[in-house]
Amino acid sequence: MRILLRSLLLTIVFLAGCKNERKSEKLQISNRGLITKTAMVVSAREEASKVGVEILKKGGNAFDAMMATEMALAVTYPYAGNLGGGGFLVYRLADGSKGALDYREKAPIAASKEMYLDENGNVIKGKSTVGSLAVGVPGTIAGIFKAHERFGLLDVKTILQPVMELANKGFVVTEQQASRFKNYDSIFKVVNEKEIPFNKSIKKGDTINNIALANTLERIANAGRDEFYKGETGKKLVNFLQDHGSIITLEDLAKYEAVWRQPITFQYDDLTITSMSPPSSGGICLNQIMTMVEPFDLSGYDHNSLKFIQVLVEAEKRAYADRSYYLGDPDFIDIPIETLTSNVYLENRISDFSFDRATHVDSLSHGQILGYESEETTHYSIVDPFGNAIAVTTTLNGGYGSKLYLEELGFFLNNEMDDFSSKPGEPNSYGLIGAEANSIAPEKRMLSSMTPTIIEKDGDFYMSVGTPGGSTIITSVLQAILNVHEFGFTMQQAVDAPRFHHQWRPDEIRMEPNSFNEQLIMHLEAKGYKINQTRSPVIGKVDGILVLEDGRLEGGADRRGDDTAVGF
Ligand code: GLY
Repeated sequence: MRILLRSLLLTIVFLAGCKNERKSEKLQISNRGLITKTAMVVSAREEASKVGVEILKKGGNAFDAMMATEMALAVTYPYAGNLGGGGFLVYRLADGSKGALDYREKAPIAASKEMYLDENGNVIKGKSTVGSLAVGVPGTIAGIFKAHERFGLLDVKTILQPVMELANKGFVVTEQQASRFKNYDSIFKVVNEKEIPFNKSIKKGDTINNIALANTLERIANAGRDEFYKGETGKKLVNFLQDHGSIITLEDLAKYEAVWRQPITFQYDDLTITSMSPPSSGGICLNQIMTMVEPFDLSGYDHNSLKFIQVLVEAEKRAYADRSYYLGDPDFIDIPIETLTSNVYLENRISDFSFDRATHVDSLSHGQILGYESEETTHYSIVDPFGNAIAVTTTLNGGYGSKLYLEELGFFLNNEMDDFSSKPGEPNSYGLIGAEANSIAPEKRMLSSMTPTIIEKDGDFYMSVGTPGGSTIITSVLQAILNVHEFGFTMQQAVDAPRFHHQWRPDEIRMEPNSFNEQLIMHLEAKGYKINQTRSPVIGKVDGILVLEDGRLEGGADRRGDDTAVGF
């Protein structure tokens, strides 16, 4: 029996899906998440999951529930839930067809490659992360309407009604929220030049409403998507932004469109994994890492053991090095997706790995291709009674985005422009280094790490999973999948298990503090790995839904946040 499972010891024995005999020995697990028969929503807030479920109970499907849940997160989780940001949807319909929707923010028409550099070509600190110049053209309203227009069953007013009620009545502030409002209070005051409604006077247990947001949602419910992009709301938004020095215009809003994309789909053992394509790096990196690690006997290693960590970390380094060089907005650059995800290329990429010693990151710049052909984001997963499944990750980028709060409309604006590489070779706020492929250009979408992912097993829907966490998103999703598939964890255990992360540069394994034993750390250091247990107290906050062998659904709502699964 493996280390982690032993420590969890066990009152109830569950039998979950596993791919061989040896794994079934590891399945004596308690600590299941919520189990339901028919449908489920897992999100960062209980109220948002409940609103999504309410819509499903009214006869809505996953796409109706998406609109409701996403807007309810904007009300109850202003840290990342949003109208002023963007996101990605990956779906699998009951008939097995799959697709992806890109509602990522775009650079304004007046944006330029050097807009965050001073006269000496150096990055001006803070310019791409805080205030109006950090804001990309928001995509969220376009995204939820595009998904609804194609697949939704209920009318928009019915869907938004409970969200407006929530905004009017208010929600109860959690401990984590109260402490964030306190921590961000001074920067909110600086950026907005006044106190905003989310401030340090708010305590755990207080109920706060957002009448301005309820009114904005009412106008959108009545007039539709264009209210945000061309109507009164859009005009107020642009006036506000321009008053604060933004270069975003009415033309930027009017031209914004969400785009259907072909998702990235690949095999791992008997799993078919479908994840987000560019402008997210999530799907390609996940594909690269999983293909590189597949030949190793992961289930034969202990969970989070030395060998397991080495294999994952070495694959992660190589994938993130490629990410930084090759990936960006597919509408602007050619990405050699086929080659980057081919078995031949990836076998070669990992071929110099040895268990004896860490591969030095300097020797690992992007792989050569011949014949060139969040941290603070939020994820929710929904399975509806019709058998449709979605995975959605949405973001303002940093916590509360640019910190710019539009009080009249009731929402924060993103700072997604920081996800571009302001200067090739310079790290962004996640320490990610970008190249020309992700340089700023008018109307270009900035590269993302968001990895909403749908997994099938034997042709049937099996899991929906995703997470916030900036650059750590991809590796957190990876570990959640492997925890279930390789180690037989329940969905809840898979999202709760300690995580680690490597992103090529900086050359360090980020490990959740107080989660890995000292001996393991010493062994890793002896092999040449640098360990950082302080940089990030939280690596991802994964939410997922897993189909159990008897067809019921298990929700995994990450213990690290206020995340909650609700279903029936
Ligand atoms: N802003 C975080 C991401 O898109 O990856």
